Amino acid sequence: KLKIKTKERRFETARDLYGIFFEDINRAGDGGLYPEMLRNRSFEDSVLPEGYIQQEDGIHVKTVSGWLDEFCNGEGLCRWVKGNNIPETEIPAWYTHNAKMELELTDTLNEHRDAALRMQFEKDGSLTNTGYCGISVKAGESYSLYLFAKAKEEIGLDVAIEYQGKVLAGNSLVVSGQEYTRYDMKLIAAEDCHEAQLTISCKEGGEVLLGFISLMPDNTYMGHGLRTDLVEKLKGMSPKFMRFPGGCIVEGTTPSTAMRFRDTVGPAWERPSKLFVWHYRSTLGLGFHEYLQLCEDLGMEPLYVCNCGMTCQGRKSVLLEGEALDEMVQDTLDAIEYAIGSKESKWGRLRASMGHPEPFKMTYLEIGNENWGPDYEKRYNMIYKKVKELYPQIKTIANEHVEKNGCPAECVDEHFYNTTEFFAERVNYYDDYDRKGPKIFVGEVAVNEGNYMGQLYAALGEAAFLIGIEKNQDIVTLASYAPLFENVNYRAWYPNLIRFNNHQSLGIPSYYVWKMFGQNRGEYVVQSEDEGGRVYRPRTGMASLKSNKELRFRNPIWNGEEAKITHELMGHVQDTEDGLLLQLPDEEQKKEFHSILEWADETKSFVVFGEEDQTYGRFETDIFVEENA
Ligand code: AHR
Repeated sequence: KLKIKTKERRFETARDLYGIFFEDINRAGDGGLYPEMLRNRSFEDSVLPEGYIQQEDGIHVKTVSGWLDEFCNGEGLCRWVKGNNIPETEIPAWYTHNAKMELELTDTLNEHRDAALRMQFEKDGSLTNTGYCGISVKAGESYSLYLFAKAKEEIGLDVAIEYQGKVLAGNSLVVSGQEYTRYDMKLIAAEDCHEAQLTISCKEGGEVLLGFISLMPDNTYMGHGLRTDLVEKLKGMSPKFMRFPGGCIVEGTTPSTAMRFRDTVGPAWERPSKLFVWHYRSTLGLGFHEYLQLCEDLGMEPLYVCNCGMTCQGRKSVLLEGEALDEMVQDTLDAIEYAIGSKESKWGRLRASMGHPEPFKMTYLEIGNENWGPDYEKRYNMIYKKVKELYPQIKTIANEHVEKNGCPAECVDEHFYNTTEFFAERVNYYDDYDRKGPKIFVGEVAVNEGNYMGQLYAALGEAAFLIGIEKNQDIVTLASYAPLFENVNYRAWYPNLIRFNNHQSLGIPSYYVWKMFGQNRGEYVVQSEDEGGRVYRPRTGMASLKSNKELRFRNPIWNGEEAKITHELMGHVQDTEDGLLLQLPDEEQKKEFHSILEWADETKSFVVFGEEDQTYGRFETDIFVEENA
């Protein structure tokens, strides 16, 4: 008898296990991570997209949200009225003064813009943008404003960040010319204020057509345009990957609202805005490039979720076919080229012009979000094949267990929204998962049912589930909480990991759970025992073998595709507390086994095969043998 022992039953931890899932939900993008300070900077909030299907859970009021004039006075804010929505900003009356505005739907800045704002000022008239429940400025900090405008007759405008009539920062410009022209200015705040507005006023009176306007802080994380305190909250979690840009927004409700990479790159004012399933439009200033830059800045592996050629199945799905499907698939390939293509390639050139000549990374690609069934599988296979042909190094992720229907699957994304108790009871959920199938990505997980949602109790339930993932990270290789961000004034979903307003942010208790797990990564998963005496023995290729199986031990020497077997033997194995007991009845077999081990000594691994040649695993830990045990 030979006793094969590992020094320790252990396996290496999954390198990228804990990450984040960013979706633009709860106004996480504009006015959030992407710190645009003006709400509805493109004036398109209330313009319904082509083919839009009215959702049952919202009614739509058409006005110019975020902007006030003397007729509007806060009454006509564009808002999606939804049962559990928190009301939008309350507007005091003193904002409005001698001016009128209306949407211009034809004479817009460029082909990507669906609206412009016609501003008509009487003498000393002014129009105001209320920001995201107020504009927040800090004394001494500078803010960049740019706008595109035109005017039939030259017109002088005063632009000010102000609070209750007091100017905190101001500048002026003269708009002239029949074509849209860009105007830039700096505004430096004299005082701290979190409830300011932007006022555009005109002494002489006159008409201006505003094509697009933006106000952003100059102080951003690494100067890359994102809100510092929010990025630092993410950094605190030590995330190893970022899944983006969604979620349901990737699917959309119609072909025109589905996400496409190419709508999210290039100059901000040339990116068409998108009405998300979460009841608001985003101007997509936070786009593909910005996500990749954030990944690079925080050392996260990009995990891009592409639309798979169908819209949200939970919301009256539309299937893309023929040219429309090809166009969508091409969009994904273009996205990859943008990320990792050379700067000479079509999309790599655009990346270089956006300030990043060197390729970014593109590590994972998830094909679709929460899609399923034969329509999904058809599209999944198509995208899988094309991506693997061109980029075999990219690891793909499926939305469901497509391998059960014969599709190739490297990894499957599983989502869990449930009660605290559900999670607490599932510490062992992955213990007996099929090790021969694809890896698992727990892409969305949160207590969003039952009592104490978003509180410590719920965080403990989630933590229990994460412990289950920790010990099974040979199969669960990626995990992230969902959703990540919530602007507390525009909640569409609850709970969310990080909550913020226009100047503060905080993590809910779950944030600190993920932070603790993310910050404390070991090198190996080892044997452990819980307080109840339950011993957890990590699975290794060998440790997961069942006792008394007839096994073949081989030492394949890999030569490209081919494996040359120089030694092979059959044996009966018994799985014991501290090793595998291998019964080898004769000297010949023993010799053979030693030859295998000699080779194993060099490479520190050998491969164990079971019935029908299926591989049980590569045995990679230190090995020593006790003879005649
Ligand atoms: O995280 C919120 C939503 O939940 C995601 O958009 C979607 O993937 C899931 O249904």
